[in-house]
Amino acid sequence: MDLINLSKKLQKREAFPPIPAVVSEIIQEIDYGEISMENLGRLIQKDVCLATHIIRHANAGAYSSAGPVSTVIQSIKVMGFRVLKGLCLSLPVFSQFRDVPGVMGLWRHSYITSACCRIIAERIKLPALDEAETSGLLHDLGKIFMYLEMPQFIGPRLSVSDASSGEPDWVVERNSLGIDHSFIGARYGRMFNFPESILNPILWHHEPHKATANQELTHVCSLGDKIASIIGACHPDYVYVETSLLQSLDYLGIRKGIFQFILMDCLDRASNMMYFEL
Ligand SMILES: [Fe+2]
Ligand SMILES: [Fe+2]
Repeated sequence: MDLINLSKKLQKREAFPPIPAVVSEIIQEIDYGEISMENLGRLIQKDVCLATHIIRHANAGAYSSAGPVSTVIQSIKVMGFRVLKGLCLSLPVFSQFRDVPGVMGLWRHSYITSACCRIIAERIKLPALDEAETSGLLHDLGKIFMYLEMPQFIGPRLSVSDASSGEPDWVVERNSLGIDHSFIGARYGRMFNFPESILNPILWHHEPHKATANQELTHVCSLGDKIASIIGACHPDYVYVETSLLQSLDYLGIRKGIFQFILMDCLDRASNMMYFEL
């Protein structure tokens, strides 16, 4: 697929994986902003699988201070509407294509990245915890498009993910296709009306210095992405950690001692979350 055809295809909603009707309805209601927590809970319960995953997510470790929860409504209260919307967009897509090579590894990476982003944001006292977590969850969603539409490109990449001479995933994508998963992911997020505070981190998570707005959140997303790799939840097509990690640490004012705390915290929470499989 050449760049022109690829760009045309990405302008259409049908280019992206379909999501169940009830999930579309949930996303629309969240966007509309007038549904009560109770009605949203009832709507989510129409999809038993989604409801189960949402409760499991609320208990998976990121909100440990809230204590265990057992209902959908309690889960929405602890995670917030933005994170809920991010889960509604990502869970059905990853779940539907779990057997496609690389997809489950990407889910694990994205899920752990979302927790790492929240931990970093908490540690540096960034108020936008929900945005940080949601951007971490969605940051690599553009790869799903590549896994489904370009298996001939992605397949060989999965088998050389640990080649020491290899270049980072996004660089290879840009050199080969003229476009990368960050761009595709941001396009996908825009279609679902996510705010700029989430779209910018998705678009610039590999080049956080280029973000013209939401720089702090973008560096948090970029750092969370790399910490996930450091603690073992690496990308299925590239296992190394890029040195731009140092730029993000510098930008966010995270010194060595604090970074050690963040790493330990991420590892601790991630070990609780490893069991959250689709
Ligand atoms: Fe990425
Ligand atoms: Fe990533």
